[in-house]
Amino acid sequence: MPLVNTKKMFEKAFEGGYAIGAFNVNNMEIVQGITEACKEVNAPVILQVSKGARAYANHTYLVKLVEAAVKECPEIPIALHLDHGPDFETCKACIDGGFTSVMIDGSHLPYEENVALTKKVVDYAHQFGVTVEGELGTLAGIEDDVCVEAGHESYTKPEEVIDFVRRTGVDSLAIAIGTSHGAYKFTPEQCTLNEDGVLVPPELRFDILKAVSAELGNFPIVLHGASSVPQNYVEMVNTYGGKMPNAIGVPESQLRKAAELAVCKINIDSDLRLAMTGTVRKFFTEHPDKFDPREYLKPARANIKELVKHKLVNVLGCAGKADECL
Ligand code: G3H
Ligand code: 13P
Ligand code: ZN
Repeated sequence: MPLVNTKKMFEKAFEGGYAIGAFNVNNMEIVQGITEACKEVNAPVILQVSKGARAYANHTYLVKLVEAAVKECPEIPIALHLDHGPDFETCKACIDGGFTSVMIDGSHLPYEENVALTKKVVDYAHQFGVTVEGELGTLAGIEDDVCVEAGHESYTKPEEVIDFVRRTGVDSLAIAIGTSHGAYKFTPEQCTLNEDGVLVPPELRFDILKAVSAELGNFPIVLHGASSVPQNYVEMVNTYGGKMPNAIGVPESQLRKAAELAVCKINIDSDLRLAMTGTVRKFFTEHPDKFDPREYLKPARANIKELVKHKLVNVLGCAGKADECL
């Protein structure tokens, strides 16, 4: 089947208490790892491309890689989404260039400017059946050129969401409830030590999620910055020459809870980067004589696949849901 937009996926995810995984793609091995996992467990998927990914790999290459995945996996619905669209022109280029969904990220703008920009993108996108994600509230962390320092993030204000959704016509809304981008989401000081000696981060602001949802009713919410930063991969990076002290993510149990509520799209990028980097570092340490990229990218791709499978089955709850989203 051809690429789909996110409408049906989100309707079914909302009804079924699960979330669609939105995984960032930058190269062939990542596209393959993700989509092979989805194919194996029959899960719908959103492949998303950031401004940085377009700059790195080139728009055309990324679209063609995703088209290849669609051809290889005809039985699963795949959406191609622009992640953190920075302006109207980038969104338009993606809509004109084969994407089926875009995010316009006006979250850093004053409210009225965010409304105006988001509405402009929606008005254009909807002419072509392309779905649009907007954002209210700002996450800490780095995404492309925008860096929000910890302490300068702001939670979504539930009293703004209904006005924003009505006036812009967006199809989904990203909100800020305590997640952040990257592999350092919480400092050890923000965490508590449990009886097993494991650092447990503070709870996400489920009160805000519920308040937003009470305002919007049956409307899909998106969670950015939702990597769990698996400690086995952090350890792998650190064991094999890396230095990532205190990398801490969102506990998967909290993501599962969000997926059972109104969160229909969960964004994961850093976890894939960790799996790839950890695996490649280990490979080079164990095989210092090897220099064929196929040899080190093959286990990296395999580990991405296993990680994505785990997310689909145990965290997002969308395994087996491909057919109903078609
Ligand atoms: O939210 C940002 C995503 O992780 C994409 O990251 O801008 O480095 O491609 P990137
Ligand atoms: P992570 O950095 O937590 O993977 O978040 C990715 C993201 O939100 C992409 O938009
Ligand atoms: Zn994001």
